[in-house]
Amino acid sequence: MEIILQETAAEASVIAAKIIARLVREKPNAVLGLATGSTPLGLYRELIRLHQEEGLDFSQVTTFNLDEYIGVAGDHPCSYRLFMMENLFSGLNLPASQIHIPDGLAEDIPAHCEAYEEAIRAAGGIDLQVLGIGSDGHLGFNEPTSSLASRTRIKTLTEETRQDNARFFERVADVPHHCITMGMGTILESRVCLMLAFGANKAAAVSQAIEGPVSAMMPASALQLHPRVHVLLDAEASTKLTRKDYYQYVYDNKPTWQRY
Ligand code: PGA
Repeated sequence: MEIILQETAAEASVIAAKIIARLVREKPNAVLGLATGSTPLGLYRELIRLHQEEGLDFSQVTTFNLDEYIGVAGDHPCSYRLFMMENLFSGLNLPASQIHIPDGLAEDIPAHCEAYEEAIRAAGGIDLQVLGIGSDGHLGFNEPTSSLASRTRIKTLTEETRQDNARFFERVADVPHHCITMGMGTILESRVCLMLAFGANKAAAVSQAIEGPVSAMMPASALQLHPRVHVLLDAEASTKLTRKDYYQYVYDNKPTWQRY
């Protein structure tokens, strides 16, 4: 696992965008797994800038989002589909047919989840998965005790997650209780994982995920089993790590060809 420590979320987001830009230049038809929430906003702004100012071409890229609320239509202000349209896709040249987001109104949820997994396979698998982390350690909406082998399916949100996400809704009561999320097994099959975490609210989960035991109680700790993970942190999210000096040393001494 590569831990990259930056002072601010903005600096970390620029590095995350460079990692994605390098992939898209090397493999123009890359398959990207994408996340919602506050965390990737700076990354998405930077990708839009790279597209608009430096010509980074997304015309052959395919995307799969991690999750969506159940019972929320794709044009609802709190839907993750609308979030992605407003915060990323509207600024890129990515054809709509290459965008995949679980459908929160799917009538047959198990069949929809199976079809989502099949679409990922048919696209050749996810080359790079962008991840945030919940304050309870979730990845996507894989809440604590999620099977580490799980696939795309329905999940029930923890009360902590509902409270965390209430800021996007008018009232806490409006936050759905259920969602569709890629599973931990789905996420771990991505060729590269890129996890971002910013702010003091994430520090405890970050330290347990990186330096704690692998446990379904802390789903993000399963990234320790993945061979290619980049973690990008701001100063506040890294305060509880015990090996910070080592992570910084590794980063400062990267061979030139590995630098971003
Ligand atoms: P946030 O959410 O980016 O809004 O903090 C992250 C997550 O819940 O995975």
